[in-house]
Amino acid sequence: MPDAASSTPSLPEPFEELTLDELRTRTSIKWTMYEPDVLPLWVAEMDAMPAPAVVEAITDALRRGDVGYPSMGTSYADALAGVAARRWGWELDVSATQTVADVLTGVFASITLLTEPGDAVLVPSPVYPPLHEFTRQMGREVVPVPLTAEGRLDLGEIEAALAHPRAKVLLLCSPHNPTGTVHTAEELRAVADLAEGHDVEVIVDEIHGLLVPRGTTFTPWLTVVDTGLVVTSASKAFNLAGLKAAVIVGGEGSREKVEALPHSLAYGVSHIGAIGHRAAWQHGDAWIDAVNANIVSNSAFLAELLAARIPAIGYRPVQSTYLAWLDCTALGLGEDPSVAFLERGRVALNAGPTFGPGGEGHVRINIAASRATLTEAVGRMASVL
Ligand SMILES: Cc1ncc(COP(=O)(O)O)c(C=O)c1O
Repeated sequence: MPDAASSTPSLPEPFEELTLDELRTRTSIKWTMYEPDVLPLWVAEMDAMPAPAVVEAITDALRRGDVGYPSMGTSYADALAGVAARRWGWELDVSATQTVADVLTGVFASITLLTEPGDAVLVPSPVYPPLHEFTRQMGREVVPVPLTAEGRLDLGEIEAALAHPRAKVLLLCSPHNPTGTVHTAEELRAVADLAEGHDVEVIVDEIHGLLVPRGTTFTPWLTVVDTGLVVTSASKAFNLAGLKAAVIVGGEGSREKVEALPHSLAYGVSHIGAIGHRAAWQHGDAWIDAVNANIVSNSAFLAELLAARIPAIGYRPVQSTYLAWLDCTALGLGEDPSVAFLERGRVALNAGPTFGPGGEGHVRINIAASRATLTEAVGRMASVL
């Protein structure tokens, strides 16, 4: 991980720009789920303004009345291809893509295509809750696959799970939410070989791909193999979750699978959303660099705060993303420490057990916030103990 102080001396700090009063005027789920005295550091929304290029593109579209149905062409995938080539050296083939409303819709359309009800979907866990909850609701068996103690993919556990008689899909989160682990090319290659050996398809959720700081390498799945389905969007990295658009991408070996997806999926894309996402991918490099640098410095700041106020919490500073995974098992707050933090500390964090096996005794905290907010949050957590 790069050193926060030396790598980013002059970048702006997007999480320091807004006051709590300004943020509390927002009406999204982060700011409306709990009572006003609760400090919200849960759902993956950043306390930042959007990239200026996004604001300009959407404002311009509104001024011109460009608010019709989504385009059915490849312009969304073209914008992804641009940023993928620039930042990761990934030359993706836009002719093997399918736009969708959002990443979850894309993941579940892919699972629907590749599995039957009753089939098993293997999910390295703990993981972003909808990936296992919604898969189960689709009538598929979810087989959680433990991560290593360091939060990495465990190849031995994956191999054992692949032996499940109805294993059809391995669902990867890359980078991994909630641990922030960035899978290496070697790990992904080994997973691909194992899955291929068991005739299991791989679906990869790469929505956090751009939330990796300079100096740490994000490896797109389709630069390692040409099979599997990748689902991604600009929504997470550019904090545009309310602007619905995403894309499913296949390689040469999975082109037929992409073509077999219902083309009507494209109808779920918000045209104005896609305009915003495209602007982000095309012109948002400086903004995302500043966000990533601010995440790195906030991660170090959180580590200092915890060491000073609640040293019994286990925290490994994040490699990527702004979601920090805190091991609170030593605090004696039971399976779900978020309950005490919310009820007695008035700070909203994500409940570890909702992330599946391995989440017990943990909470997830969103560090895309100002240092003042992080300080207040840790103070409130400490007050519970
Ligand atoms: C790993 C992961 N996948 C998907 C999503 C949701 O993406 P979307 O809003 O595009 O469905 C999130 C949101 O935080 C996420 O962390």
